Amino acid sequence: MNERQPEDPDARAREIELQMTDDERFSLLVGVLGKGDLWPLRDERIPPDVSMSAGYVPGVTRLGVPALMMSDAGLGVTNPGYRPGDSATALPAGLALASSFNPALARAAGEVIGREARSRGINVQLAGSMNLARDPRNGRNFEYLSEDPLLTGVLAAESVSGIQQQGVISTVKHFSLNCNETNRHWLDAIIDPDAHRESDLLAFEIAIERARPAAVMAAYNKVNGSYAAQNSVLLNDILKTAWGYRGWVMSDWGGTPSWECALAGLDQECGAQIDAILWGAEQFTDRLRAAYAEGRLPKERLSDMVRRILRSMFAVGIDRRGDPPEPDMDAHNKVALQIAREGTVLLKNDGTLPLASVERIAVIGGYAQVGVPTGCGSSTVVPPGGYAEVIPIGGPGLTGGTRNLYLLPSSPLEELRKQFPSAQIEFDRGLTPAEAVLVARRADAVIVFAIRVEGEGFDSADLSLPWGQDEVIAAVAAVNPNTVVVLETGNPAAMPWRDSVNAIIEAWYPGQAGSRAIAEIIAGKVNPSGRLPITFPVDLSQTPRPELPGLGEPVGTATPIDYSEGADVGYRWFARTGQRPMFPFGHGLSYTRFEYRDLVVAGGETVVAGVDVVNAGNRAGADVAQLYLIGAPGGRRLRLLGFERVDLKPGQSRRVSIEADPRLLADYADGAWRITPGSYSVAVGASAAAFAFTAEVELAGRAFGR
Ligand code: GLC
Repeated sequence: MNERQPEDPDARAREIELQMTDDERFSLLVGVLGKGDLWPLRDERIPPDVSMSAGYVPGVTRLGVPALMMSDAGLGVTNPGYRPGDSATALPAGLALASSFNPALARAAGEVIGREARSRGINVQLAGSMNLARDPRNGRNFEYLSEDPLLTGVLAAESVSGIQQQGVISTVKHFSLNCNETNRHWLDAIIDPDAHRESDLLAFEIAIERARPAAVMAAYNKVNGSYAAQNSVLLNDILKTAWGYRGWVMSDWGGTPSWECALAGLDQECGAQIDAILWGAEQFTDRLRAAYAEGRLPKERLSDMVRRILRSMFAVGIDRRGDPPEPDMDAHNKVALQIAREGTVLLKNDGTLPLASVERIAVIGGYAQVGVPTGCGSSTVVPPGGYAEVIPIGGPGLTGGTRNLYLLPSSPLEELRKQFPSAQIEFDRGLTPAEAVLVARRADAVIVFAIRVEGEGFDSADLSLPWGQDEVIAAVAAVNPNTVVVLETGNPAAMPWRDSVNAIIEAWYPGQAGSRAIAEIIAGKVNPSGRLPITFPVDLSQTPRPELPGLGEPVGTATPIDYSEGADVGYRWFARTGQRPMFPFGHGLSYTRFEYRDLVVAGGETVVAGVDVVNAGNRAGADVAQLYLIGAPGGRRLRLLGFERVDLKPGQSRRVSIEADPRLLADYADGAWRITPGSYSVAVGASAAAFAFTAEVELAGRAFGR
């Protein structure tokens, strides 16, 4: 690949910007949506020889500035009608990736996306989907990673780095607090600013400092009364000043409510046509030009907007790469398979799994004869060969048309038949309890697949499984003690039948190779190693907002949501309220047994812990050692301080060393991080509720950061 050597991107950006005309400057500030399922018209600003994608921004040929070709998203290169017949690797949900607790795998996922984007001429990937999973009803949690800022920030950083290493710009999104989908354009996320820094913003801060994403996408919603895209505190004070961010801030599609967003730190209006519908006009075309002509948009700010975009192009090197190699789709499928294998979580197992020497297996429900579900919205990827089936669901609002049950090919039923070639496997569609029971009662073991359609633009009304699946599961469990439930959902689910089934697997939306991974785990070919990146509550009464504000209100209703839990998201909320969840953050079972030995912890500036992880069972497997802060001066606090995934053979042990990011031991107050001097309790364990060892350390007090 004839790579040109990089020069100082900032110097090159300044040099080029100085030569640009104002028309050329303004042309970089507006991205237009291509013709596709969401926007059936071809915008004349897109040249006829340019292929369709989520966003197009013209370049400046005479100055060597390439056009920007933008595509979604964080789970693969999407194609909602832009490029007929085009497909890409459909990776598992972000929650599955996070369940692996495997940063190297997140990097590999990013590389897959980056290579497939480049091969299509895409040079901006709208990935880095990393809002905290605050609310288990949030329709987009499947795109995100976890409820914890450290796990989220570390994995998002690896994914972004994997993409950008391929010469493709990655975003991180949606900045910030896009944690519910209900009336998202009119949602006002209310949060204590310091708690915001200790939670959602901490995740972004970690990801941005580690991976330097060239672009940040502002969220649709308001934060504390001001639209994220027009929120100077968020964009100018925190992102660009306190954190020193040098890339550019783009809006979400139709997420630019005013030209004055430019004064608040927004650098580019994307999906401009949608702004014309939602806000009455495009904002960074005539309106911004007029503001500039009237002196209300300073020249220095215009230059800054342009230079941020230019320097990002050059820092990532979107103009420096030769012809991309053809992606190895088999190798990419293996990455999808590995994420599904490592991201599947064995929640409960009273002995039925792994299935061995069974003659008759009943497989029930979940369209398991067709394929596996994936989430809907802008992150939905058309897999190689196309979807196995798309079943319209529909719904209100702008994204109601994308609310479908998308089934990726290769069915769990087929894959189970491969794993159990000599067993007699019967399938029932799971439409009624009575029918399912007829098949279940004559089987040695029953595998019930349960699914839920989740996606962008809507939140689930509660945590229940739809379509009577709970009744089918309960009826089957009543006639067969070897009932295994496989959940293929984009969020935690309520499980009224959990005590009457023998085993429960959470496979999430498992991606194009997910059915194989599920079958391999059921058969014991793969030892499950996933750990929950999000707490499973028993029901919504355990959560900060049992009633979701705005749910069911007409589209356009102002929807303030008071995130009064602040930084106590997920497991921290359960610790604060003294509740016991159904399954805790970090939980996941294995077919072997792990022990922790010889914990040594040192204090001082931060906490450094060492512990031996031992495979005390009789088969190879992977564990995730987790280090938690469980006590600090001023009262109990719970915080994941670090984690490490280790693969171990039977009897093998590995010493794991974890050094805590000092911010995880600090409070954010008065514009800085502050560690209170005194005694801190830390614990190592297999979840946020299962500690093997605890230890006390002394920390010196200090203030740092901004
Ligand atoms: C969508 C999403 C955003 C996506 C963009 C382009 O509405 O909120 O994540 O990247 O628009 O499709």
